[in-house]
Amino acid sequence: MSLIPEPIIDEIQARADIAELIGRYVPLKRAGRHYKGLCPFHKERTASFMVNTDKQIFHCFGCGVGGNVFGFLMQHDRLTFPEAVRQVADHVGVDVPSAPRGATNGHYAQLSALLEKICVYYERRLAHAAHGRGARHYLAQRAVPEATRGAFRLGLAPNGWQGLLRAAAATGISSPLLEQAGLIVKGSSGYYDRFRNRLIFPIMDARRRVVGFGGRSLDQQEPKYLNSPETPLYQKGRHLFGLAQAKDAIVQRKAAVVVEGYFDCVTLVGAGVTHVVSPLGTAFTEEQVRLLRRYTQEVILAFDADAAGELATLRGIDLLIEGGCRVRVARLPAGVDPDEYVRASGREGLEQLLAEAQDVLEFLLEVAARRYALRRPEGKVQAAQFILPTVARVPNAVLRSEYLRILAQRLEVDETALVEELNKAQPRSLAAARVPAVPAASEPRQPAAEQWLVALILDEPVRWDAVRGELALDELTDPALRRVLAVVSEAAQGGRVQTAPVVSRLTAEGAGALASRLIELARTIPAKEQALRDCVRQIREKARRRRQEQLREQLQVAHAAGQERVVRELLVAIQQAEGGER
Ligand code: UTP
Ligand code: MN
Repeated sequence: MSLIPEPIIDEIQARADIAELIGRYVPLKRAGRHYKGLCPFHKERTASFMVNTDKQIFHCFGCGVGGNVFGFLMQHDRLTFPEAVRQVADHVGVDVPSAPRGATNGHYAQLSALLEKICVYYERRLAHAAHGRGARHYLAQRAVPEATRGAFRLGLAPNGWQGLLRAAAATGISSPLLEQAGLIVKGSSGYYDRFRNRLIFPIMDARRRVVGFGGRSLDQQEPKYLNSPETPLYQKGRHLFGLAQAKDAIVQRKAAVVVEGYFDCVTLVGAGVTHVVSPLGTAFTEEQVRLLRRYTQEVILAFDADAAGELATLRGIDLLIEGGCRVRVARLPAGVDPDEYVRASGREGLEQLLAEAQDVLEFLLEVAARRYALRRPEGKVQAAQFILPTVARVPNAVLRSEYLRILAQRLEVDETALVEELNKAQPRSLAAARVPAVPAASEPRQPAAEQWLVALILDEPVRWDAVRGELALDELTDPALRRVLAVVSEAAQGGRVQTAPVVSRLTAEGAGALASRLIELARTIPAKEQALRDCVRQIREKARRRRQEQLREQLQVAHAAGQERVVRELLVAIQQAEGGER
């Protein structure tokens, strides 16, 4: 994000006249209340580039570029967001502070420096001749070599309630800061350490900066693994454990192995299989997919071979495929995790397992064969329903049709019938993991109701007030649209929201074209207030159905695994979901 304070950005934007500024680059003609011209970003003979002076945006209906005044300069002159802001500031005569050090950034830096210090503290505790002996013995027992311990900067949180607290106080670190970093907790009788008698796994970003910690219990203390709470630096689902250590290997081997746990990651690397990351906890997120996708397209999922692992695999598959990855699934023996497998079979054994990883379609067929009676017509229908939503997500048309061909063959059904069903099959969440910086003329995968809703709100942000109480952000499936609403919602914390500052934030994030497209879309929507209500209703209804579908999926898994208690709980939850929201 930019280092220029947002109020100053807003003022610069308010003072600038987009038609005047763009007019210096592109001959514009008045068209009603707006302006039109030939798009400078693609070749065209009839003008499809327009400038909307009400909302202070530009948009090309031919090639899809768009944004506000800053976005125009970013794309036209290849400037960064802060550079574009400074250029417009010069033009309109606003002073931008030259030492760009916003309070927030200072805060991040402070927190980051703190985590680095604490990381070193934990590392030293583990290296301590006497105090670290037990934990080092544990690591040796679990076959983690010293070099790997160093590469991951493993550490030890001492046993006792105030080891870190006291050590930090001795070096002048304040308790409120430690608390913000999630390292100490306030109890009725004062602060105490969050991590006690735990092996510490620092969580780092791709550039090796520590953002949080995971800790494995060294005694019987529950939970077995404890993670840093969310802080400005660490947000669940935005990091991949092991990425800093694995990224070079991932690029080199043109593939990444994704495992469930901290230990899986560390012991695989210790054994010499170094292109491994873990999503930390069970759910794999779009952001993690995007993160991985910067380094490779090929992903091998090696989750535990149990019901939970299978569910995580199914979810991961859809997200990865939608993000443009090729996915294979490693076939671990039941009840064995990658850590145990590499211990038993060594590096060669594991490499072989990875080499033999199943193509995603084979994996889905195998799960389907376990769940449904594939020889019977209704079993074929069920299997097709189970597999097609995944196939529908394959972005490459050639690969998609190849999958269909194989699927038809394996299910012994007519391929054209499958194609017909495919066209009906909605991807399970419709969530498109795309990079916002890439402009696109249209995003056909964004559900229409969500597009309309967000367009209407961006057009007149006061509409958010009418909607916010009825709709949760996560009821929207499209991440880009969700992000737009999140920005509106954040801006609303400060009082009345207007379109322009929201568009600026989005432009800074590379989503200016999305913003301008939505604003133009809003102009075409008739009976706007009625439409707003209809959209909210539709989105909520779909979200409700999705929740139910998820519960049913979990039910099937639990049922297959014979988890009676879970089955009973899920049945109750399903009943509630059906009755609760009428
Ligand atoms: P597992 O229970 O499979 O642990 O959890 P593991 O990695 O095999 O652990 P070891 O081998 O007994 O040491 C897999 C992952 O789920 C998350 C952690 O990220 C863990 O690595 N988890 C598990 C938690 O966050 N909290 C828990 O209490 C348990
Ligand atoms: Mn394990």
